[in-house]
Amino acid sequence: MAWDTDELRRRFPALALEVAGRPAVFLDGPAGSQVPLSVIEAMNRQLVQANANTGGHFATSLAADEVLSGAHRRVAEFVGGDDPGEIVFGPNMTTLTLGLARTLTRVWGSGDEIVVTRMEHDANYTPWVQAARDSGATLRHLEVRREDCTLDLEGLDAALNERTRLVAVTAASNMVGTINPVAEITRRAQAVGARVFVDAVHYAPHRLIDVAAWGCDFLACSAYKFFGPHVGILWGRRDLLEELPVYKLRPASDALPERWMTGTQNHEGIAGTVAAIDHIASLGAEGTGGRERIVSAFSAIGEYERALSRRLIEGLESIEAIRIWGITDPERFEQRVPTLSITHAGHKPVDVAKRLAAQGIFVWDGNYYALPLSEALDLEPEGMVRIGLLHYNTAGEVDRLLAALREI
Ligand SMILES: Cc1ncc(COP(=O)(O)O)c(C=O)c1O
Repeated sequence: MAWDTDELRRRFPALALEVAGRPAVFLDGPAGSQVPLSVIEAMNRQLVQANANTGGHFATSLAADEVLSGAHRRVAEFVGGDDPGEIVFGPNMTTLTLGLARTLTRVWGSGDEIVVTRMEHDANYTPWVQAARDSGATLRHLEVRREDCTLDLEGLDAALNERTRLVAVTAASNMVGTINPVAEITRRAQAVGARVFVDAVHYAPHRLIDVAAWGCDFLACSAYKFFGPHVGILWGRRDLLEELPVYKLRPASDALPERWMTGTQNHEGIAGTVAAIDHIASLGAEGTGGRERIVSAFSAIGEYERALSRRLIEGLESIEAIRIWGITDPERFEQRVPTLSITHAGHKPVDVAKRLAAQGIFVWDGNYYALPLSEALDLEPEGMVRIGLLHYNTAGEVDRLLAALREI
């Protein structure tokens, strides 16, 4: 075990919550993780010591500039890039993706083709559907195999051709936890000259993002899913971010990354984002630093999460009325994050979620905006129940959930 679970949980003040006289069980991480005190303190510090707009000549503005430039460097390190100018901050992933899609609408035209998958959160689906429609481009789909909720990669070559402009794919599903082979998809897409946009929102708290190794062209994630505040992050290759005709205001700089960062940013959120990355890094091997420590932290997080996944999946499989959607074979746990969606033969997802909530166990029900996937699996309108584990969850919490589900 790479860390002391009790000490780690004490870092997160929200985890002390009690419901009905018992500790709350936070299994709602895929919709937003809790934050360590260090993140709250970093946000406070920003508001107390550096609460000014950027680009001024006085102390607080200079301090804000320093925090922001440090944040671009640290987030570049987090995603595996080496250019702070390639990191764009914004309100959330959805807004950043809609902004990029709107820009691409200006360069796509009829005859161009866009490939999206059925595994997406709607934020990596509808922006491309709308951009294709508005530009006259044709939309193609990559299907999901129902039996294990993985992408039908055999269909990829049929979907790609020399007219393909973009492939949009999620690194991990926020519904069924499947991890996609992003490097392979990127290689195949780029072989026909297409760009690749990766949605790493759900993947980010669980595994190491590596834009250099994956070779993708764009990637987006959101700090509130990886123990930070509500800040969106877009990474893009410098040449693309420089040449694309982004919508921007006249006084705003045309340099990177400012040309993509519309309006005044959430400086305290950006300060908190750096603290969230520092929290993750603190779980890595002592004596290392920078990217190396982040790499080591994710290796420890992955190992811990796989053990929790095994316990949860084995327990769920012993409850006859429950169906798990997605990968359940422990030999294939490298291909999933510990996010599980289940259905119950006798109860609607909303009723299961309400009964768990009454016992202080927090899970989501519905489609969690992964509408393309819940439609493809014929699970609309009720959806499923989602159980999301993070590195601050424990085996004891998994057991409490299982006991409550057995009672239901
Ligand atoms: C996989 C995935 N992509 C995109 C989003 C949208 O992110 P944001 O809330 O930052 O717009 C979410 C949010 O739940 C998500 O889970």
